[in-house]
Amino acid sequence: MTKDKGTYYISTPIYYPSSNLHIGHTYCTVMADAMARFKRLQGYDVMFLTGTDEHGQKIQQYADAKGVTPQQYVDEVVAGIKELWKTMEISYDDFIRTTEPRHIKRVQALFMKMYEKGDIYKGEYEGWYCTPCESFWTENQLVDGKCPDCGRPVTKAKEEAYFFKMSKYADKLLELFRENPDFLVPETRRNEMVAFVEQGLEDLCISRSSFDWGIPVPIDEKHVIYVWLDALSNYITALGWPDEPEKYNHYWPADVHLVGKEIVRFHSLIWPAMLMSADLPLPKQVRGHGWLLLGGEKVSKSKAAKGQDVIDPVVLIERYGIDALKYFLLREYTFGQDGMFTNEVMLKRMNYDLANDLGNLVSRTVSMIEKYNGGFVPDLTEEGKCVPGEDGIDYDAQLKEVALGAAPKVEAQMDDFKFNMALEEIWVLVRRANKYIDETMPWVLAKDEASKPRLDNVLHNLAEAIRIISVLIHPFMHTTSDAIRKQMGLWYADVAWEDAFTFEAMCGEQVKKGDAIFPRLDIEKELEELYALGAQAAGGDVNIPLELKDEIVYDDFDKIDLRVGTILEAEKHPKADKLLVFQVKMGTEKRQIISGVSEYFKPEECIGKKVVVVANLKPRNLRGLESKGMILYADNEVDGKTRYEFVTTVAEDGNSVE
Ligand code: MSP
Repeated sequence: MTKDKGTYYISTPIYYPSSNLHIGHTYCTVMADAMARFKRLQGYDVMFLTGTDEHGQKIQQYADAKGVTPQQYVDEVVAGIKELWKTMEISYDDFIRTTEPRHIKRVQALFMKMYEKGDIYKGEYEGWYCTPCESFWTENQLVDGKCPDCGRPVTKAKEEAYFFKMSKYADKLLELFRENPDFLVPETRRNEMVAFVEQGLEDLCISRSSFDWGIPVPIDEKHVIYVWLDALSNYITALGWPDEPEKYNHYWPADVHLVGKEIVRFHSLIWPAMLMSADLPLPKQVRGHGWLLLGGEKVSKSKAAKGQDVIDPVVLIERYGIDALKYFLLREYTFGQDGMFTNEVMLKRMNYDLANDLGNLVSRTVSMIEKYNGGFVPDLTEEGKCVPGEDGIDYDAQLKEVALGAAPKVEAQMDDFKFNMALEEIWVLVRRANKYIDETMPWVLAKDEASKPRLDNVLHNLAEAIRIISVLIHPFMHTTSDAIRKQMGLWYADVAWEDAFTFEAMCGEQVKKGDAIFPRLDIEKELEELYALGAQAAGGDVNIPLELKDEIVYDDFDKIDLRVGTILEAEKHPKADKLLVFQVKMGTEKRQIISGVSEYFKPEECIGKKVVVVANLKPRNLRGLESKGMILYADNEVDGKTRYEFVTTVAEDGNSVE
């Protein structure tokens, strides 16, 4: 195998430092880290970039809510993010913060290049804005009046702004997808993006003037550059473009931008269009991964605040170690698809694959070499070869074949970012080696001195298989690989990928039993403890500003007349399945109110409830019946499912609610 295979540039998204990162963010970084380590081991000159996306309205709101400056806010969160990556031994080559001067001046340079091209003009933005996603939407793009990406409320935005002539690049983008199908994978995402462009690309608003936490527009200091334009530029600003272009010339274009599926649009449409405008080469590939889900929805801090599963990587690492967590994330999920995250799934993976399969293989083999050969890996001899028995199977040949076949299979899976399948290929060997122990029964061979040559060969073959496993797992779990190599007496040699292609490499190494590489977990007990920790976190120190609709003033609120009402009668609407028709008494008045809640309540269980009613709402006709007012409900969401409850009271009906 040749070293010096050329360069390989991989990036993660730069994370918003709005709060500490959770297991979902960790997932992408762990994949990028495994790929970077894999490529380095294969002899590539790797550039692995990550960082933080620190400007924008969202960060400004978080800082305001905490009563600190945005800079103070991000400094604290970014320190935590860097600490997390350090704990997890993430092998990034650079960490870019968008508040760094090196980034700021280069974003401005890129803006100027696009401006000088004639691609930027001034206008007025009027439309919707999703602050959590930091994205602009037109009325038509909204789904039920909410952000089509995250489903959260959007706010109206109307402000003077600069625009980028995105529409000019629509045909070029379609051509890119057509002629270079690997530019965006998986295919489903590519189809979505092609459809998005074909619907008609609008020019993109690329400045904001209603707040100031951002990089000033170089030609107009009243504006800050739109946070996505600022953030996407990181992939070249970190390389020194344009003023210190050495690294840029060396590594650009990037081999792959790894991103979550909801930000594929920014990376595969806006980013290439920006680069086209600046006459710069495009990245070779954008790969969109799926989400880790908690109770059916994307893992997020606010979701976790309601649940009990622990999603804080720091807590999980403290309990189970970095490698167990990394293994789980890489093995459990299929790249490109969403996957459920629960503590139980995680613990089972750790126990079955790591403690049982891998841990047992290593500890059994080391113990047997200590017990039967004084702790030294025996040499192979002709005499000790496997003589196929009645079943005709040459166990040694089979083990060797699986062992030598693993590395090329891992390479093929990694080419496709199939981390789970790459690990599965390695575990085929782990399981085959465990089976080899059962088949050859070294403890039986040890009883008869005449079988010693055979026993030696068996122990040798097991040592070889474990040596190869230690090489193969290195990109995914380097600490475990090192621990195994230490136990196998391989401490003298650095891990080299080509070592996975030879079988007869060991002779006389002194093995040494160490601690179990993965202790067995008592799943029931762990789950109980994790749930307690999760519940504690949910009730404890969470303080994340809620995503709300536009602010209102007191006068707006004062227009609403809220009254206490008692439900006297309830029945299904004769012409609409979803509707319940209530007769509600409010003091002296009895009136009919209709609500779309039949999936949550049986009519009979509503009778007698004292509810809060918007009493002065303009009456509406709903499928032939008049509804006069509105009953209030609280959305008591559990496990991602909407479940309405009445907003009840004990006050006398007719009384006002203040
Ligand atoms: N700042 C932007 C990215 C700018 S890149 C030029 C951003 N930041 S983010 O912090 O909101 O998200 C960063 C990444 O984390 C995204 O790729 C997102 O998909 C990923 N994840 C956040 N939650 C996730 C899960 N629950 N599961 C998997 N990944 C998810 O977007």
